[in-house]
This record gives sequence, C-alpha cells and structure tokens, in this order.
Amino acid sequence: MGRIEKIISSNLDETQKLAYNFSKNLKAGSVVVFFAPLGAGKTTFIKNIVQNFSKKNIEVTSPTFVYMNIYDTETPIYHFDLYRIKNSSDFINFGFDEYFSNNGICLIEWAENILDILPKNSIKININHLGKNKREFIFEYAS
Ligand SMILES: Nc1ncnc2c1ncn2[C@@H]1O[C@H](COP(=O)(O)OP(=O)(O)OP(=O)(O)O)[C@@H](O)[C@H]1O
Ligand SMILES: [Mg+2]
Repeated sequence: MGRIEKIISSNLDETQKLAYNFSKNLKAGSVVVFFAPLGAGKTTFIKNIVQNFSKKNIEVTSPTFVYMNIYDTETPIYHFDLYRIKNSSDFINFGFDEYFSNNGICLIEWAENILDILPKNSIKININHLGKNKREFIFEYAS
C-alpha cells in the first residue's frame, strides 16, 4: 500500500477546496480512480477538478451511457463512468486503455469494473458517506 491521506469534508465548499488542493498533484498522464457508492460525491469532486483546469465554465455530467466525456481543459481531461461497463475486456475493446498513456488526465468513476488493468501508479480515492453533507475522502498514492 502507498501513502494514505484521510480528510473529512463537511460541505460542498470544503469538497471544492479539497479538489483544488488535490488538483495540484495532477498532470498529463495522471490516472485517478474512484471507489465509492452511488451518490457519494465522485462526480461532484470531478466537477471541481475540471474547473481547476479551465478558466471558462465547463459542464460536467456523468457519462453513464457514453462511458467517457472529454473536456476542453488546459490539460485534456478524460472523465469515465464505468458503472455500465462489464469488464476490462470491454474497456480495452473500446480502445479506452489508450487514454492511460495519453497527453491528458484520466478520472475514472466505478473503476472497480476494470481493477485488473488499472495502471500501477493510479491514485485511488475512496469516498465514504458520513451524513447529509459530510463525506470522508481517502486518498491512496502509489508508493
Ligand atoms: N461534502 C460533500 N461533498 C460532495 N458531495 C456532497 C457533499 N455534501 C453533499 N453532497 C451532495 O452529494 C451528491 C453527490 O452526487 P454525485 O453525483 O457527485 O455522486 P456520485 O458518487 O458521482 O454518484 P454516481 O455513483 O451516481 O455517479 C450531490 O448531490 C452533492 O451535492
Ligand atoms: Mg457520478
């Protein structure tokens, strides 16, 4: 296991600040994978990351049915939602694994569906739902 950081967010503003600080770790080639139940805050956190990479307002919605959105950010961001993908073979057949070694940042919701092919240096984020507006974010950085 790599370095672990646990941080509690008590509201959306704190999540925004957390995403801002976290964004400083990211650069082209970074892969961030989210493990968290429905409604935990994956897309909300991703929205805040995307905003940190753009001066203009970018609409961020979960690509549940198309699997991936590409955002026109300063460093391109590939936002995956793999809730409806069955396994890593489907992911590879769609050619999505090519985005891992691309010029952009990959942010992946429901990464549990492609566990066997996640890059070793992926940053893992778990989110626990503690209350109406309270969330625990657990960051695990590859060692
Ligand atoms: N502190 C907080 N941090 C993040 N989200 C919060 C917080 N407090 C409340 N929320 C709310 O929780 C909800 C999180 O929904 P979001 O779509 O981000 O979840 P998700 O994990 O992407 O779900 P899904 O699995 O359906 O894609 C939003 O309505 C958001 O406003
Ligand atoms: Mg989502």
